[in-house]
Amino acid sequence: MAADGVGRAAALLRDGALVAFPTETVYGLGADATDDVAVARIFEAKGRPRFNPLIVHVPSLDAAQRIGDFDADALRLALAFWPGPLTLVVPLRPDAGISPLVTAGLDTIALRVPDAALARRLLEATGRPVAAPSANPSGKVSPTRAEHVLAGLGGRIEAVLDGGPCGVGVESTIIGTVGGVTLLRPGGLTVEAVEGCLGHALKTRAESDAITAPGQLSSHYAPDAALRLNADTPEPGERYVGFGPDHPSDITLSASGDLVEAAARLFHLLRGLDAGDSAPIAIAPIPETGLGRAINDRLRRAAAPRG
Ligand code: TXA
Ligand code: MG
Repeated sequence: MAADGVGRAAALLRDGALVAFPTETVYGLGADATDDVAVARIFEAKGRPRFNPLIVHVPSLDAAQRIGDFDADALRLALAFWPGPLTLVVPLRPDAGISPLVTAGLDTIALRVPDAALARRLLEATGRPVAAPSANPSGKVSPTRAEHVLAGLGGRIEAVLDGGPCGVGVESTIIGTVGGVTLLRPGGLTVEAVEGCLGHALKTRAESDAITAPGQLSSHYAPDAALRLNADTPEPGERYVGFGPDHPSDITLSASGDLVEAAARLFHLLRGLDAGDSAPIAIAPIPETGLGRAINDRLRRAAAPRG
């Protein structure tokens, strides 16, 4: 539905329906986070493993603090970067009324205040916390346009609010704040920005740490064609995705080497490569700085052996 459908979309959410909506990162598949049946339908529609907990979206820090407990670090990050592409994992308040399916039984909760105007209006109008994973079938590329959502989930959800293409294009950065401030998933907010705000380095999640975190299953974000990363030149038969003036190609993440543009184009480009061609894909090297970290994370997952 068009952007002026916010009121109708909010009413649908309050009735337990599934409504996809745009955030500045990617489109989310929303449901009332206090409604067990609505939340269960998210997992069903996505074909998502139950153990993977969901992010809850709220319109303000105030609303977030009614659901989770914010220590000094969490508060500092929320004040600095909300609304924006940052998700904070904080202790869940037992009286918050959130469906246990949302947290997959964990005693922590992932919270986010998105910046996209349409998302904020929808959250205000709904008046309930909205659980929303990315609006794609489990294991597939995240949607950055309404038509991507319909291509993957059409017929399984009640509505998509169309806000045009997402500005950031990769998912939010997820920071854990329990037991030290920890990077759980690189994303649309750079690690450099987070560390600059805190004044110290982030911990990274130890491989042994079995927290059921982020699209961390290896074949997440996968397109159907095989992917080769860090390719200086294509092999015969490969389609080549360039980046920057040193690695030009007809298909490029950014001809000028701009990481912001590359992030915004990434998922749309991977989908375009999937459409009607199964030839393997080679991708130029992307620098591991700023948003490049999130781009490389998603590309590594996309290239991982399929499970
Ligand atoms: O940009 C985004 O973050 C988008 C938009 C829609 O907000 N959402 C998104 O959600 O990417 P999703 O479900 O695809 O990824 C959320 C990740 C999951 O992989 C999950 O494992 C992790 O957040 N997560 C959720 N709750 C958690 C918790 N309590 N502890 C650790 N990780 C958690
Ligand atoms: Mg996802």
